[in-house]
Amino acid sequence: MSLSFEGRVVLVTGAGGGLGREYALAFAERGASVIVNDLGADTKGGGKSSAAADKVVEEIRAKGGKAVANYDSVEDGEKLIQTALDSFGRIDVLVNNAGILRDRSFARTSDLDWDLIQRVHLRGSFLVTRAAWNHMKNQKFGRIIMTTSAAGIYGNFGQANYSAAKLGLLGLANTLAIEGRKYNVYCNTIAPVAGSRLTETVMPPDVVAALKAEYVAPLVLWLCHEDCQENGGLFEVGAGWIGKLRWERTKGHTVRQKNKAMSPEAVRDHWDKICDFTAATRPSGIQESLQSIMTVLSQVESDEVGANPTASAAATG
Ligand code: NAI
Repeated sequence: MSLSFEGRVVLVTGAGGGLGREYALAFAERGASVIVNDLGADTKGGGKSSAAADKVVEEIRAKGGKAVANYDSVEDGEKLIQTALDSFGRIDVLVNNAGILRDRSFARTSDLDWDLIQRVHLRGSFLVTRAAWNHMKNQKFGRIIMTTSAAGIYGNFGQANYSAAKLGLLGLANTLAIEGRKYNVYCNTIAPVAGSRLTETVMPPDVVAALKAEYVAPLVLWLCHEDCQENGGLFEVGAGWIGKLRWERTKGHTVRQKNKAMSPEAVRDHWDKICDFTAATRPSGIQESLQSIMTVLSQVESDEVGANPTASAAATG
């Protein structure tokens, strides 16, 4: 059966162009009432215009879809959600997508370069999401998308400000996934790749044209559908490919012994073991992360396993 969004109210931030426009069109095509938010800024966050959002609303309406525009910055989170409530009476889905770039080598990054990027990406997503949160909780349904970037996951030269904000969004999403779970409010994070005005400065024109935003939108729609039970996931997506990421941790090594000082030399001497990913585990939560550390603590203190407790501690961890 095809996935319908009939009766759902969807807010897409930064939907006046690029990826956000594609999401808005796709949701509307499947019956959603869409709030097309866009400040109409340039790629560095300067300027303001209602034209970008208006154009997408017109496109949706021309195809018989339901949409309204909102021109506020994501920094005015409450106003965006108010537009959803005033126009359609509820909010079901929030796609945090608005974004700008102010690329600089780290040494040249000014306070403003740093602050603007944190404000639009991280603080903006926080403010819009917080404004939507209680409505979603109370109705026991909500789907939220955070937009990170490969630059955040892996780092990228000249994008210290952007990388920090983008991976901050993953941290935010990880906690929202935990706090929202019992209310059927799920939050997932995507790292998209698509040709847009943001990427046309770093990609050749034929690649920009080939990497269509419509190859990203279907993942966003699925993650935001009521049938989708995915929560707290992180996905890379582009060119029609979708992959999921997770954390991996080495088995590690205990370099401390009971009643002996722990030394940097011991860390140095066991560095290969500390960093050896053979027999790595994949902690899926904070309890699992802490568990092996607590086990080591009790084992070292009780000196149960003699000179080197690591083997049995890690085996239980
Ligand atoms: P885009 O520049 O085409 O779209 C971003 C939109 O956000 C613009 O229409 C802009 O006016 C709007 N916007 C900017 N500041 C705003 C604010 N304060 N309030 C409301 N709207 C605002 O860029 P694109 O490529 O579509 O990017 C969408 C998202 O995907 C961004 O968060 C970006 O960082 C992220 N991303 C994109 C990648 C790509 O390959 N295109 C790669 C990794 C992440």
